[in-house]
Amino acid sequence: MAKTKQSSPNLPGINAAIIMDGNGRWAKKNALNVTSGHQRGVDVVRKIVESAAKAQLESLSLYAFSTENWSRPKKEILGIKKLIINAIDSQVPELINQEVRLNFFGDYSSFGDEIIRAIHQAEKITAFKKPKLKLNIALGYGGRKDIIEATKLIAKDIKSEKISVDDISHETIFKYLQAPINELDLLIRTGGDHRISNFLLYHLAYTEIQFSDTLWPDFTDEEFIKCLEEFSKTERRFGNRTI
Ligand code: FPP
Repeated sequence: MAKTKQSSPNLPGINAAIIMDGNGRWAKKNALNVTSGHQRGVDVVRKIVESAAKAQLESLSLYAFSTENWSRPKKEILGIKKLIINAIDSQVPELINQEVRLNFFGDYSSFGDEIIRAIHQAEKITAFKKPKLKLNIALGYGGRKDIIEATKLIAKDIKSEKISVDDISHETIFKYLQAPINELDLLIRTGGDHRISNFLLYHLAYTEIQFSDTLWPDFTDEEFIKCLEEFSKTERRFGNRTI
């Protein structure tokens, strides 16, 4: 019998994120260098973005490079930089077709001018007013750094009397954080580890978290759709009593 393609649940308004872990182990398992693992990882990103757009998610935020990743070997960092520049070059036309708005967040200045120019150009040409999906890529991002920088900005605005101490609320803090989302509904981490690794710390308060043992380069759109289905069945109580 012919295998029918899984249909994805419709999840409009849902903000999802992925910690794409396991490229290095996948490369080792397949006797390849780590950059080949990251390359395969980028290929997977393309398919998952397409599935996320089909599922009508509001946003998908991907952890591409953390503040801690700067301590990796120079060669690996250079490989990731080249892959991102190539991915922007080759994928932006497809993102435009799918009406996906691309947005990078984090401090990626140390990657150099070439990547900064490519990112700004890609963000400009995908700046749909009503995108089908917001695709946010965390690059040189750390949740703690985001909270520290937001706290400094709030302190400065209080000092200059732009806001008062009483203006500080949950919503205000979101406004000062760099990550371009508020509540995060679903976080998926691949690669078998059960940790947050300094990702969207403030945004994770009531996030449903799913862990997959699959190494990111082996992660399929079928598995992604299964994650979305499981999420859609979850009763979210936000600390409330429902029984
Ligand atoms: C984690 O695997 C992966 C990374 C640190 C880099 C991921 C980057 C990409 C897939 C490129 C993304 C590009 C775009 C355009 C979104 P790891 O190397 O930490 O795996 P390991 O835990 O097995 O060593």
